[in-house]
Amino acid sequence: MPLVSMRQLLDEAAKGGYGVGAFNVNDMEQIQAIMMAAKETKSPVIVQASRGARQFAEDLYLFRLIQAAAELNPDIPIAMHQDHGNSFETCKSAIALGYTSVMMDGSLKEDGKTPSSFEENVDVTRRVVDYAHERGVTVEGEIGVLGGVEDGHGAGGSGLDHITDPDQAVEFAERTGVDALAIAIGTSHGAYKFTKKPDGSVLKMDVLIAIHKRLPNTHLVMHGSSSVPKDLQDIVNQYGGKLKETWGVPVEEIQLGIRNGVRKINVDTDNRLAITGAIRKVLWTQPEKFDPRDYMKPAREAMKKVVAARMTEFGQAGHAGDYKPIAITDIAKGYADGSLTTQPLVAAK
Ligand code: 13P
Repeated sequence: MPLVSMRQLLDEAAKGGYGVGAFNVNDMEQIQAIMMAAKETKSPVIVQASRGARQFAEDLYLFRLIQAAAELNPDIPIAMHQDHGNSFETCKSAIALGYTSVMMDGSLKEDGKTPSSFEENVDVTRRVVDYAHERGVTVEGEIGVLGGVEDGHGAGGSGLDHITDPDQAVEFAERTGVDALAIAIGTSHGAYKFTKKPDGSVLKMDVLIAIHKRLPNTHLVMHGSSSVPKDLQDIVNQYGGKLKETWGVPVEEIQLGIRNGVRKINVDTDNRLAITGAIRKVLWTQPEKFDPRDYMKPAREAMKKVVAARMTEFGQAGHAGDYKPIAITDIAKGYADGSLTTQPLVAAK
């Protein structure tokens, strides 16, 4: 199956009332882990690469691996997404490679660190939307700013510093025409999100619900949504790691989000933990091993288990065969003739 428009994948998810995990990749084993999980659970899937991943793997290696995944798994709809594009040029280069979706994270300036103004965010996101839609490519924008830093991207600080204002979310969606909207509700990238199991004072599901009420047709995106399970932390620490105690976003909160318009859920940290724990275990318990396959194989298996669990919990499992991909050129026509335009998104106040 060719790579699928993320818009189509999310529209289908909205129709079916489920969420779709967007899993970060840097290398072949992570891509394989995702595809093994997607095949096992019959799930459509979003694979995403940050700027750091594109640099680490070199664009062409990574993109060719995704193409191989699509070729080897003709029954699985796959959208390839640029995670946290920092500029028009970054998004343009992803589109040139063949990514079917880009995130223009205009919530930060081009340095990927400094929060931008609302007008700057609208301006750069709108430009990316115009360019991408002409080519049938989906655009995710962000309003509000996530906490933490991942792959060198992020404002740092607490997830509570720049919670999304629902009024701004509405204006942003109207003025940019984004297909999907990432919002800040207290989550952060990375392992250290919360110091105890989060409640409503730090994880603002009420804000998410308020935004969904105002933008019922907009696909909402939850970033920083690893659950950072204790068992994965324990494996890392049992075999010589030094993670401090931490809490992520509980799966039941994500499921509440899915019932309130969340269609894309970003997960990276849980997979990093699973991989690291598996590698540590082999190297710690069998120090005589030196063939990378001896630890990469269990690492891939450990990530597959996490991804398959999330696919089931998010509800995307079993939906791979629901639809046929619409050609990206036809998606472009849909944007051009208005049939796919996201306006009007806004329900009455
Ligand atoms: P986690 O660090 O919680 O996995 O979040 C990943 C993410 O949001 C990537 O954009």
